[in-house]
Amino acid sequence: MNEASYSITTNVVPGHENKKMNIAIVGCGFVADYYLATIPLHPQLNLVGVFDSDSQRNQKFSNYHSIMSYQSLEDLLADKTVEMVLNLTNPRSHYDVSKAALEAGKHVYSEKPLAMQLDQAAELVELAEKNALLIASAPCSLLGETAQTLWKAIRDQAVGKVRVVYAEMDDGLVHLMPYKKWLSTSGTPWPYKDEFEIGCTLEHAGYYLAWLVAFFGPALTVTSFASIQIADKLVDEPLNMDSPDFSVACVQFASGIVARLTCSLIAPHDHSIKIVGDKGVLYVDDCWKYKSPVYSRKMLTIRRKTFLSPFRTRYPLLDSRRAKAKTKGAQNMDFARGPAELADAILEVRPCRLSSSYSLHVTELVLAIHYAREQGAMYKMTTTFDSIEPMAWAVA
Ligand SMILES: NC(=O)c1ccc[n+]([C@@H]2O[C@H](COP(=O)([O-])OP(=O)(O)OC[C@H]3O[C@@H](n4cnc5c(N)ncnc54)[C@H](O)[C@@H]3O)[C@@H](O)[C@H]2O)c1
Repeated sequence: MNEASYSITTNVVPGHENKKMNIAIVGCGFVADYYLATIPLHPQLNLVGVFDSDSQRNQKFSNYHSIMSYQSLEDLLADKTVEMVLNLTNPRSHYDVSKAALEAGKHVYSEKPLAMQLDQAAELVELAEKNALLIASAPCSLLGETAQTLWKAIRDQAVGKVRVVYAEMDDGLVHLMPYKKWLSTSGTPWPYKDEFEIGCTLEHAGYYLAWLVAFFGPALTVTSFASIQIADKLVDEPLNMDSPDFSVACVQFASGIVARLTCSLIAPHDHSIKIVGDKGVLYVDDCWKYKSPVYSRKMLTIRRKTFLSPFRTRYPLLDSRRAKAKTKGAQNMDFARGPAELADAILEVRPCRLSSSYSLHVTELVLAIHYAREQGAMYKMTTTFDSIEPMAWAVA
């Protein structure tokens, strides 16, 4: 795919107007139910089957959703009708499952991160290119109403020239919450051990980094500090991987803008972002809600001092005209919008907004912050990507 020739007007190939893409899910855990709840919002996605290496879970999920289940990954990959694999396994399985899918000639939409190591993620992107396939990574909230509205406000210079961004991904003291009671709709428990082992940076930094690199272009450097403050999150089980539960990163974009992102499993819940420009501040309170309002406040100058106006303006939320995803639980996200964008790009023979190189760039940033630890060194980015276009419905 030639990303440079990207056009925002979709270029539907004659005969492909009503074409569907056959997809199969690998990994029938907690998040898979959220995908199942939102796939019906995207008629171009046709779910043909599922597989989980845990045979009980495979059976239970397949029965609950009345979907065919495969007996092995090999069976799923040998099914010639499957065109795209949704890799919803745990992060430590992403590389193996995505690699097998790409080798079998399937496009891949992977949950985040693409892989646990940069060389593995880069290998997946190279393999996809070699086999003329696409690989894209979650999160896909960039395609949501809030991100698209915020992006339009930035393009419209609603707060003048943007200088700095402050973004927060704090989740509170999750290890003290009743997480053992958190169940998905089909009754799968929240995978607390895996979540604590993988850590908040690998799990959540991508939500804002995916927005920021789309808005401001490729990053040049990231200077991070990451620390483990509560090592013994589980009273009766040791964790098998050390991951920071607090990280702070300063990202420098080639466009000159800088951003500070904080992730933690300690500070009280805060998923807000502030985009600071010469004429004011744009802000969103919660990036996990696709219809979170976008506000702005003007910068006022009174007697040579600057103040932020106490009055906020609500920026009109752009409408994707999609039905609202009805998902139970904390998330209010249309998880299937990412696979739908990938399917549309393939069917319309156009670059994907969540392109392979964009997904790799976000993954590189996330991994750099996660592995930074207390050394606090500056990391120079090695990957880049061609610019991403807004959704067609977000362009005036
Ligand atoms: N839990 C959440 O709230 C949440 C939200 C958004 C995204 N995610 C992401 O979704 C992914 C999955 O998370 P989850 O919460 O569903 O985890 P989970 O542990 O509930 O489910 C993962 C499933 O993958 C299966 N699996 C692992 N390796 C496999 C393999 N090689 N072949 C087949 N099946 C395999 C496991 O048996 C398990 O059932 C992760 O990347 C996570 O970051 C999770």
